[in-house]
Amino acid sequence: MSTAEKSADVVVIGGGVIGLSIAWRACMRGMRALVLEAGEIAHGASRHAAGMIAPVAEVAPGEERLLGLARRSAEIYPEFIAALAADCGREHVGYTRCGTLMVARDRDEAEALERERALRERLGIPVAPLAPSEARRREPGLAPTLRLALDLPDDHAVDPRTLCSALATAIVRRGGAIREHSPAVALQPGAVRVSRGTRVRAGATVIATGALGGGLAGVGEPVPSRPVKGQIMRLHDPEGPGLVTRVIRFPPTYVVPRGDGRYVIGGTSEERGLDTTVTAGAALSLLREAAELVPGIGELVLDEFTAGTRPGTPDNLPAIGPASVERVWWATGHYRGGVMLAPVTAELLVAALCGEPVDPLLAPCDPSRFWGAAA
Ligand code: GLY
Repeated sequence: MSTAEKSADVVVIGGGVIGLSIAWRACMRGMRALVLEAGEIAHGASRHAAGMIAPVAEVAPGEERLLGLARRSAEIYPEFIAALAADCGREHVGYTRCGTLMVARDRDEAEALERERALRERLGIPVAPLAPSEARRREPGLAPTLRLALDLPDDHAVDPRTLCSALATAIVRRGGAIREHSPAVALQPGAVRVSRGTRVRAGATVIATGALGGGLAGVGEPVPSRPVKGQIMRLHDPEGPGLVTRVIRFPPTYVVPRGDGRYVIGGTSEERGLDTTVTAGAALSLLREAAELVPGIGELVLDEFTAGTRPGTPDNLPAIGPASVERVWWATGHYRGGVMLAPVTAELLVAALCGEPVDPLLAPCDPSRFWGAAA
């Protein structure tokens, strides 16, 4: 590590989409940011994520408190993407304004979808139901057996791998630094100790280690987190784009088009610790579900079948805010929403690092909710 990198205004521990977004945002606000990544950047949950920016589709009972934060993130995504494209010098950084259809195949699913619609109505987000004929007019790749669809025109998607690569470039172009294969092992007052004895002086430290971040000493009161496994497939259509143009969701499965003939089908949700094996059963059920709704999926070329682990806290809401030790901040536990919540997490956390009051939108994410008796 060069002398220049032995100190930083902000050291971000963890080089996934959350850590990279925070580091980039900190650089934009004039700070020298250093990302310490134990392995390679964007090789944890960010590598496997589908990248749905779906505040409306992903409202889950019990997680409504996240809605304000999720909607704000979706709102600022276009400007985040535009600024990132300018900073990294690339025209496209993976963002697709594609919209989403939530769909049901049979009567049971249609009733479940109607309950989903009613939940959103109660939360003040009216969602338009579409007749199957209208849904199929918009997406001819959908099966004729479709029973009901909901139109979510503002739920979009981004390719997390392209996004993370753009963030890394932008950080470096803004004068920040990224150190891979540099696991942080302990926090000390005003410093981070890295493996092999290196010590980095840190004006502030952000812990953004996701599901793979155990073993960091000196964090004070901990944020409990568990890995939630997701198996996911990547495919492409040799004929090019157009099989479907919107994200198609039929919980728990989804098909995400990248707009260029590539598709992602996800994702399982399994409480299996850090296991990242892929199973025949998951492949079978993902493909069967997806092909029942979009029959053309059977013609696609399978490029990858992988598994990653999402970081889930006990209440499945992230922990974003001050740690119990001075000048240390948590930004972790984003569970199924890391890609969606990256812009707002970065904006609000870096504002707080700059001494601005913590935004009330972050209230449900206060890490101190886990301390004391609950911890
Ligand atoms: N956000 C979708 C998933 O975690 O599977």
